[in-house]
Amino acid sequence: MTEDTPEFTDILAITSKMGCGSSMDSFDEPKTVVVFGATGLLGGSVARALLNDPFKFRVRCVTRKKNSDKARELAELGAVIVNANLDDTKSLEKALANADAMFLTTHFWEEKNKQKEIVQGLNAIDAAVSCGVSHIIFNGSENVKKLIGRDCNHLDSKFSIEEYIREVGLNYTILRLPFWYENFYTVFKPYKLKYGVYALALPLEDGALDCMAVEDVGECVYDILCKPRLYYGKTLGLCADRLSLANVVDIFNKHFDTMKFKDPKMKIRDYENFKFSGAKDLAAMFEFYKDGTCVRDIKLTKKLNSRIKSFDKWMDENKDYVEEAIRVDEELDQA
Ligand SMILES: NC(=O)c1ccc[n+]([C@@H]2O[C@H](COP(=O)([O-])OP(=O)(O)OC[C@H]3O[C@@H](n4cnc5c(N)ncnc54)[C@H](OP(=O)(O)O)[C@@H]3O)[C@@H](O)[C@H]2O)c1
Repeated sequence: MTEDTPEFTDILAITSKMGCGSSMDSFDEPKTVVVFGATGLLGGSVARALLNDPFKFRVRCVTRKKNSDKARELAELGAVIVNANLDDTKSLEKALANADAMFLTTHFWEEKNKQKEIVQGLNAIDAAVSCGVSHIIFNGSENVKKLIGRDCNHLDSKFSIEEYIREVGLNYTILRLPFWYENFYTVFKPYKLKYGVYALALPLEDGALDCMAVEDVGECVYDILCKPRLYYGKTLGLCADRLSLANVVDIFNKHFDTMKFKDPKMKIRDYENFKFSGAKDLAAMFEFYKDGTCVRDIKLTKKLNSRIKSFDKWMDENKDYVEEAIRVDEELDQA
């Protein structure tokens, strides 16, 4: 939970006395929840958590590709798949018609266009307002530019959308997520230094990494939607583990016998000069982590989902994915 949510201890006191079944809202009928990004990692985690409880939730999953394998998998779990595009207001109104709640995540990395992400977020919120959706849960962010004085487009965009949500007057809950463990087999997978030796190239310097499994976010959203009134107007900073890069390296080395992992002591100023597009935004994100104004709350997150995993536990269960990501890179190098 963050600075603008002083009622944190009250929430813990109340939630500890309530199971999901004793919600302040009645569940005489299942609530319809529209999940954006459901074919992706974050929305998928939310969709699956809600689909586990068909007595409480009917799940509508939004995608631009209704016939994709990921959409079909969600349909097999019981989701209603709806074709909609965040650029197309009419499609959003159709997707949100008669819905009770919406989980919204917007997207920067596909087009790396801050303004476009903001417009897409506002489109979804306008559609929610016109459809009378009673609760928005949004994957937001702090105002990084204001906090550290430099542009961080993929997070600043989400703060602008948060501001709009606060203006429109619908019930909302903002989630501020930490670094996902899953990044270690995607964007931040280890890179090879020499045979059998790999670097974890995060320019954390002496900062700490707040992190969690994206797969554990879904249960948190489930809990919020079970007791929505408790979380109206709240901004919740989620986190399962807080690690230095030395801790991350130790956990990698503990789980892989035949590979050695190292901290290459990468500096933020080196990272921002990398040639890939988005390097400056990611460098700013690490500066924000280092700066320490990014507030995430392990205790609250455990209340929302008592099964959140530590990084060590997650690695134990997911090292095959990490190993596969490293292997694919090596094959590409050799090709
Ligand atoms: N905290 C972290 O460590 C971390 C890491 C990665 C990402 N993120 C953030 O988390 C969010 C979700 O990321 P993710 O990794 O879950 O994404 P992802 O796996 O890449 O999936 C993207 C999702 O967005 C949907 N989408 C994209 N553009 C759309 C549009 N115009 N209209 C409707 N749907 C659209 C896609 O749907 P279809 O393709 O099926 O239409 C897909 O479901 C992003 O904001 C990202 O910046 C955070």
